[in-house]
Amino acid sequence: MTDTLRPGLFLSFEGMDGSGKTTQMRLLIERLRAEGYDVLETAEPGGTPIGRQIRRILLDSANQELSSRAELLLYFACRAQNVDEWIRPALAAGCVVVSDRYTDSTVAYQGAGRGLPMDVIRGLYQFACGPTAPDLTIYLDIDRAIGLARAHARNAEHAAAGQTDETRIDNEAAEFHDRVYDAYAALAADEPGRIRRIDAAQSIEQVHADIWAAVETHIAAHSLSKGPRHV
Ligand code: TMP
Repeated sequence: MTDTLRPGLFLSFEGMDGSGKTTQMRLLIERLRAEGYDVLETAEPGGTPIGRQIRRILLDSANQELSSRAELLLYFACRAQNVDEWIRPALAAGCVVVSDRYTDSTVAYQGAGRGLPMDVIRGLYQFACGPTAPDLTIYLDIDRAIGLARAHARNAEHAAAGQTDETRIDNEAAEFHDRVYDAYAALAADEPGRIRRIDAAQSIEQVHADIWAAVETHIAAHSLSKGPRHV
């Protein structure tokens, strides 16, 4: 369902918490910019100023009453705003858009994790995003126990530093995270053309090299041009 008429390139990063997404996104974006590409960096949930407000509701561990259906709708509300305000205009202008998570996360966390119906998720995806889908998704595959341990260590550091609480989903039971992990594995197996699975247990340098190889191939296939764009 990719929007093939647009000149930009849409990349998303996916994986369990603690898979090294943030580090690898930063390395990729630095390299793309050094090569002369105009990059829009965004995140789900988050990105736009409105999206960042929605992110606070979604991730604050004080919001224990948030129902699964309300949670699902908020993730898509955030994404619709991101697509309308940032992603679609940037792609139309020929930018490389790099998003920290997108709808694969909703399939994994709300579909498999919460057990919400996949046909509802597919319908909301169509409504919220239309044809705006990633050309390439980098899936950082990390052992679930290692990922969760890293995520908990990071959350403890953030709490000690007095930073915003973003632990509501990380605090879910191990079985929830097991279902998320299995869903990612199934997505990667179902869509090998779009989703590139990368072993996140390798060194930071090797993971980056694998990501760059996948991205370069897509840049070449897209005949993407360099230089600043006017969004
Ligand atoms: P992160 O920005 O640190 O990756 O945290 C976002 C959290 O939100 C993470 O636990 C995954 C979760 N999430 C969902 O449950 N559904 C979604 O659609 C997205 C984008 C994220």
